[in-house]
Amino acid sequence: MSISTERWSISEFMESTWSGDAELEGLDAVIRAIADGTRRVHDLVQAAALADVLGTTGETNVQGETVQKLDVAGSDIFVEVLSKSGWVAAVVSEEVEDPVVSGDSAEQNFIVYTDPVDGSSNIDVAVTIGSIFGIWRKDPGGTISETLLRPDREQVAAAYVVYGSSTVLVTATRGGVNGFTLDTGSSEFILTHPDIRFPEKCQYYSVNEGNFRKLDGPTQRAVTRLRDSLSLRYVGSLVADFHRNLLKGGIFLYPGELERPNGKLRLMYEANPLGFVAEQAGGAAYSATQPILDIHPENPHQRTPLILGNKAEVEQTVAIMQGG
Ligand code: AHG
Ligand code: MN
Ligand code: MN
Repeated sequence: MSISTERWSISEFMESTWSGDAELEGLDAVIRAIADGTRRVHDLVQAAALADVLGTTGETNVQGETVQKLDVAGSDIFVEVLSKSGWVAAVVSEEVEDPVVSGDSAEQNFIVYTDPVDGSSNIDVAVTIGSIFGIWRKDPGGTISETLLRPDREQVAAAYVVYGSSTVLVTATRGGVNGFTLDTGSSEFILTHPDIRFPEKCQYYSVNEGNFRKLDGPTQRAVTRLRDSLSLRYVGSLVADFHRNLLKGGIFLYPGELERPNGKLRLMYEANPLGFVAEQAGGAAYSATQPILDIHPENPHQRTPLILGNKAEVEQTVAIMQGG
């Protein structure tokens, strides 16, 4: 079945929708780099064992977590394409402790945080994984190291990729959220999900129920309320759970635990980008106490509790978690 020709490619969409908006100048080059990297990671994901990218490298990353071969391959690819885009000053990757600085010219004014492969525990079992990108502009008055930790709400754009039954690249700016499906025949990303908004109805909740006993009382009450009213869907890949909840209506939680009050997920390259997407799609994203995008980061790899999805459901859940 050929893809209908009226459907915009991602380049046609960006040209038609973003050009002329000074705030987005150069963003198309960053998204094109992400799309190029995504084509390469898509090929590795599809080849998997045949490309010898399954299993671990035997290393642990800055998070102290076991590194999968695909984590490193994905990180190398995205750092390379972003650094070569001509518009990126620095890339911070989950898999690389320090920022990779590519230059400080006038044009190189974006800073990109990335979780190059999200859901690593699913790589070896052929279950959906993803990639996540938070995109900021560097502070023109500061050096790259000073400007690295931009306040979350200053994010210019965000993007994520789902490598599932199809490969879908979703971009978010203040102008809206749009999804592009990879046409493997032409290698083009085609606009298939224009102007994505959370549905009114929240159908699903996503939480690791195996951690229930590790939660404090108010959080257990919040999860019990969701369990009594919604269907559980939990893939173990944040991007897969988020994408389904965005399209079908749902709420995702990775809360803080008694022994791990900041939870597991990382602020700069998991919570912030998806929190930006959620807000631009009419949803909400909170830590245990405040909107994710109101947090002022202290270090590139810091963790945060994360509750995100349908706005009303998120706000009610956070109110209960706060003992409301
Ligand atoms: P990553 O593979 O980038 O480390 O992310 C894994 C995260 C996230 O994708 C997912 O929601 C969560 O880990 C699952 O954690 P649990 O297995 O503890 O539920
Ligand atoms: Mn992740
Ligand atoms: Mn990851």
